[in-house]
Amino acid sequence: MARTTPEKTLGVFIHLDGDFVPAGLLTLYKQQAELLTSRFSYGLRYLDRPNAAPVDPVSLAIHGQDVPERGSEIFPVEGLTLFGGIRDAAPDGWGRRVIESRLHAPLNSLPESVYLMEAGSERAGALDIRPSIQSPAKVGHGANIQSLEYLLQAAERIEAGLPVPTNLEDFFDAGSSMGGMRPKATVHDANGDLWLAKFPATTDTLMDVPLIEATTMRLAGEAGLNVPTVRTEEIGHKTVMLIRRFDRFLQEGVMHRRHMVSALTLLGCHESESPHRSYGDIANRIRRYGITEWIVADQEELFGRMVFNIFVTNDDDHLRNHAFLWDGHDHGWRLSPLYDVMPRPMLARERNLHLGVGAQGRLATIDNALSAYARFGLTRVRADEIVDQVWRIVRQWRTYFEGYDVPDVEIEKIASAFQHIDDLR
Ligand SMILES: Nc1ncnc2c1ncn2[C@@H]1O[C@H](COP(=O)(O)OP(=O)(O)OP(=O)(O)O)[C@@H](O)[C@H]1O
Ligand SMILES: [Mg+2]
Repeated sequence: MARTTPEKTLGVFIHLDGDFVPAGLLTLYKQQAELLTSRFSYGLRYLDRPNAAPVDPVSLAIHGQDVPERGSEIFPVEGLTLFGGIRDAAPDGWGRRVIESRLHAPLNSLPESVYLMEAGSERAGALDIRPSIQSPAKVGHGANIQSLEYLLQAAERIEAGLPVPTNLEDFFDAGSSMGGMRPKATVHDANGDLWLAKFPATTDTLMDVPLIEATTMRLAGEAGLNVPTVRTEEIGHKTVMLIRRFDRFLQEGVMHRRHMVSALTLLGCHESESPHRSYGDIANRIRRYGITEWIVADQEELFGRMVFNIFVTNDDDHLRNHAFLWDGHDHGWRLSPLYDVMPRPMLARERNLHLGVGAQGRLATIDNALSAYARFGLTRVRADEIVDQVWRIVRQWRTYFEGYDVPDVEIEKIASAFQHIDDLR
């Protein structure tokens, strides 16, 4: 490889059944400041574990077909610079800003290895990336749900590019842990359960985004979709949305982490390819990587989410906004609960989702969704039933929003996002 230098070799750990274990070594190659590629090799003792999980389902499979030779050094599929599974454990837009703030570094100036190592003890999923395979876990003290007010202040300072004062430094660990662009932090409640707190952004001048997101998620739950528990808290005049982290669960006092990858990773593609992929492509991957007894349920759920997104004009439904959780018992991937669903008000009658829907591409209509029923393993009758089930609830969205105390002015602001089924045929 011409003029490429290994930047660093890092230790990759994974939390299995309550403990971190070393999984393998990741080497990053760069050319000048740019990450060019990376290489991974599993530890042989890791591969011998009965509970070993694949760090990346596509490039680093350890069960079934496509298993690379034991002890081999592997590069990511499709010329990706990073393995998708590792990319999902790295900070995204928001987390990078938090890390830069802590390290007093300019925007996007740090090497990828630093972003990978600095994502904190509560990063998404079950992976941890450390300086070496001998390095101990960083012990984070986490942030308490009681301190939301301080976390919100710290988030606002980071958004504004201002330094974070020492009394708000708890935020650094809590704030860098999850992906996505919007301000957020991970907090624990009095029982020790973990929540993702999503804050208003300073640019949200038009509406109360956390309140509308939380209420839309509840509406999706009423429509039969698999939605985590969602709460809202009023901090001063601002709403914070809290969503239970589905990649963590407490069992007999031990916090377990669930290995999670995005649909971007399951499809083995680069961020820029997301708008050229479809819900049908995700359904294909469910059949390939899913668990036999859950494939029908996961495909139906995915179809239901596509239909819901059409009704509420959630056109930010990119491949990082769908995820899969590893099931160590059945050695396969299950569609995660729903997250990041936000209606977008607009005047245009003709609307598109981010991902492809059916025969008419990304066009956000029920006819287009129904044209694709077979790609989800559905019969036409079953697809119609799912549309009816979602529509029966979404048609009453105003009543639900009023029931959750969304003020009338906010309801009016969001109203044009909600579409009537008769306009979508
Ligand atoms: N309830 C949850 N449990 C576990 N992980 C979650 C949960 N909700 C979100 N995530 C993870 O955190 C990431 C960021 O969350 P989310 O997508 O809601 O943020 P966002 O900033 O609004 O994203 P975007 O940049 O897509 O607008 C998700 O991509 C997903 O990996
Ligand atoms: Mg998101």
